Amino acid sequence: MKKILSVLFIFSLLFTAAACGNGRSGVASVQTEKTEGGSSQTAADTSSKDEQVKATESLEREPDAEEPLETGTGTSADNNNSGGSHILVAYFSLAGEQYEVGVIEKGNTEIVAEMIAESTGADIFKIEAAAEYPATYEELLEVSRQEADTPPEIAGTVENMAGYDTVFIGYPIWWGDTPTIIKVFLQSYDFSGKTIIPFCTHGGSGLAGTERMISGLCPDSTIGEGLAVRGSVAQNERDSARESVIEWLTDNGYAEKQK
Ligand SMILES: Cc1cc2nc3c(=O)[nH]c(=O)nc-3n(C[C@H](O)[C@H](O)[C@H](O)COP(=O)(O)O)c2cc1C
Repeated sequence: MKKILSVLFIFSLLFTAAACGNGRSGVASVQTEKTEGGSSQTAADTSSKDEQVKATESLEREPDAEEPLETGTGTSADNNNSGGSHILVAYFSLAGEQYEVGVIEKGNTEIVAEMIAESTGADIFKIEAAAEYPATYEELLEVSRQEADTPPEIAGTVENMAGYDTVFIGYPIWWGDTPTIIKVFLQSYDFSGKTIIPFCTHGGSGLAGTERMISGLCPDSTIGEGLAVRGSVAQNERDSARESVIEWLTDNGYAEKQK
């Protein structure tokens, strides 16, 4: 009991600090800030669902103003050639029971991924684990906590990764970080010389410094400006989410193929 109370107290302190420094709500829109890297497993000690929700809320973090990431807008004028798009949208996303949105048929990140692909004419690839994830939020929290020790295997591969010069990579924020499967994906291909553009959905954390983690794993890639959309907005306020996506793509020179 004492341990639970201390954990809750730490989370409430973190949440207060985050709430003071960060007025984001609804669509987190384009994240122009660069955030610190590394993983944050601070939620991992909690056990009940309420505690997990508090932990999720508390993971909203202030950006780190230290050394900026190398960023770039990549090419956009003509992404297609006769062989197909030079842009890939690769994403991980889960349906089932999710934070703030109940049981969903399509994952929050998948909704955003589809908007990006539709607006850019990109190819799209869903990153899926070989073993199915549980459909309940509680079980998912449990399974996700074990992944750092036992990384999931990915089912399927991207054909001709070498043919893409730009890869949008999408994920939900898990424990203030990318899900482990994203790291597995990034380590499975050679991203040297490519532009990687992160996007995420989240329950309050924003990008949570995941761009820096991606930069660390792919040091020879250019990391583009990321986008963070709140999961509940992607799921339930799609016009607003699409507006943010299109604004971000336009700002970065990728929206020429809007439909
Ligand atoms: C295991 C797990 C951990 C999570 N951790 C965080 C977190 O640290 N910060 C946050 O803002 N949201 C967190 N969330 C909420 C998800 O990021 C959010 O619901 C997301 O939109 C889910 O996307 P998906 O439907 O594409 O999988 C977590 C959700 C799960 C299942």
